[in-house]
Amino acid sequence: MKACFPSVPVEAPSSFAAYSKSPVCAWLEHYQSSEFMFSEAQACALSRLLPLLVCGEQSSQWVFYNESRRQKYQSVEATALDDFERIVLDEKYHEQALECVRSQLAESADILSIKRRSQRFFASLGARNKIEEHFAQIACLDALVCKLMLFIEKGHLASQHPFVLLCRAIKQDEARHVSVSKRHALKLGYDKSKWKEMNDVISQQLYDLLNTERAAFSEIGVQIDDVFDLVSA
Ligand SMILES: [Fe+2]
Ligand SMILES: [Fe+2]
Repeated sequence: MKACFPSVPVEAPSSFAAYSKSPVCAWLEHYQSSEFMFSEAQACALSRLLPLLVCGEQSSQWVFYNESRRQKYQSVEATALDDFERIVLDEKYHEQALECVRSQLAESADILSIKRRSQRFFASLGARNKIEEHFAQIACLDALVCKLMLFIEKGHLASQHPFVLLCRAIKQDEARHVSVSKRHALKLGYDKSKWKEMNDVISQQLYDLLNTERAAFSEIGVQIDDVFDLVSA
């Protein structure tokens, strides 16, 4: 599948475990040569949902890659830089693992319009925003991704299904990304009193995107309205 966003110029190390603490590395080592079993309807649903998720992982790599570059020219503690570089790698592994599942499924006929919608969503984040607002957005977005992963875990697939295990592993990384992004937004001067409003806006925008695939979500046991606490939903 052609990428939504080009790759960041960082290679994911081929020896996973030596470099990364991401549980998704362990998942890849274990499952990347496996054949994944889904019902026909679930395979069809996931062939629509995985491109959305893959697109998000690609976009996120750029956010943290650009920030690690920007920070290199400023005197920032090495730990913050390490955090960003580690997240770039996490997101690469997320992309690789999701793509590994997706590549076993038939492409849906309207794949291009699905990809275009998600590309538009992710590209609009950060556009015209100050950098601290962008990181606040990422914190809200990754928190919602954690929640979505949790709903997939509780959905129709068996609790030990490799895809469910992958969602659990991604969720663990995303929870860390939320705290790193939050801390960074505040450090850059983000006004704490705006979190709630920001969260409402991002929730609504992500809801609008995912709601276009509500039938596919429902097929894997996720009712999209339950993931979001939207008053109007
Ligand atoms: Fe991710
Ligand atoms: Fe993330």
